[in-house]
Amino acid sequence: MTDILTMDDLSLRGKTTFVRVDFNSPINPDDKTILEDTRIRAHGETTIKDLSQKGAKVVVLAHQGRPGEPDFIPLKQHAEALGGILGKPVKYVNDLFGEKARANINALEDGDILVLENVRGFPGERKKGSPEEHAKTEFVENLAPLGDVFVSDAFAAAHRAHVSIVGFTAVLPSVAGRIMERELKALGKAVEKPEKPCVYILGGAKADDALKISQYVLNNEIADYVLAGGVVGHLFLAAKGVDLGAPNMAFLEKKELAPFIPGITQLINEYPRKVKVPIDLAVEDDRKRRELSVTELPTNFPIYDIGSRTIEDYSEIVKKAQSIVISGPMGVFENTQFAAGTKQVLEAVAASTAFSLVGGGHTVAAVEQLGLKEKMGYVSTAGGALIEFLMGEELPGVAALKTAAERMKHNR
Ligand code: 3PG
Repeated sequence: MTDILTMDDLSLRGKTTFVRVDFNSPINPDDKTILEDTRIRAHGETTIKDLSQKGAKVVVLAHQGRPGEPDFIPLKQHAEALGGILGKPVKYVNDLFGEKARANINALEDGDILVLENVRGFPGERKKGSPEEHAKTEFVENLAPLGDVFVSDAFAAAHRAHVSIVGFTAVLPSVAGRIMERELKALGKAVEKPEKPCVYILGGAKADDALKISQYVLNNEIADYVLAGGVVGHLFLAAKGVDLGAPNMAFLEKKELAPFIPGITQLINEYPRKVKVPIDLAVEDDRKRRELSVTELPTNFPIYDIGSRTIEDYSEIVKKAQSIVISGPMGVFENTQFAAGTKQVLEAVAASTAFSLVGGGHTVAAVEQLGLKEKMGYVSTAGGALIEFLMGEELPGVAALKTAAERMKHNR
């Protein structure tokens, strides 16, 4: 990685260092507690620990959820979890760039760690922009003068040209953190021609990228099969003309997924044997799991998992694969009644001899919970960013680091 610089290229002792990590974790919708701390642990045990040990004054920037979603919560719990992981006190301030935040940053001693508030509390955070444009936001303008260095470690969010991902790179010396470094090295090797048959398993609730990915991997003959589960599965079924029932169709509308349906229909017609959709599903009826064949739809109950026959079909395809990419769970696995799809498909992936690449916050959490990590080829902290990387796209967060490195080399 000669085109970006790392934490080894700078002296960090006594330097106020903003580190952008990806702490975005699965959250229990009922009590708003963190269900799984894999990402916090990943950044904590590597980059943050290293920065603190090197004597930097560490200021952590991170997001959790998206505004308006149930998992959009403050980062207090994340800071507590980080303290537990590191076995040392971690400060937290419920402010991002106001007076309170700035006073806390100014009070830091060498080696101290401070977590600022969820960056997505800043209304302009998720606007797409260039590093230079974002450097002019009040967020960066208020914080950057207090800092000496920016460490970009959120590979999992590097596909977002958001303020906290790229804005600081225009105004501060900027280097990759340990997770960013590790992901770029490992995935760089993995993207070269996957062995055939190659299976892409797409699930989860963030179904807005599924069409783009499926088109790319099928049109470029990368994947031999695309298996759809989770909300992606619902969307693909709707694209086949299946009426899922009022609550489930309303969910697709609410998530603004309906506009993808015509494109998915076209893709399914083009690759009828390569695109696999669920043949049965599990709904929640009177708080219990009940399985329905797709031919029995529509249903007035919410769909929360793929059904047993689909699990069997998908597992058979997985068995014959030589390479597998899986991103996104097959259902609401946080609820044990609806964990079967995710659990059994992941077990099939773990049992296969294929090289498996696993991504997505929730998927990685499920892999950890099930104790399957050692049996997977490579487990990435990223979901959407991983997929965009696999599609050969330059991630804005990585591009910004390259530009910063050029500038820093030039200024030396
Ligand atoms: C992820 O979980 O994929 C990253 O944290 C990015 O989150 P986003 O899709 O809400 O931008």
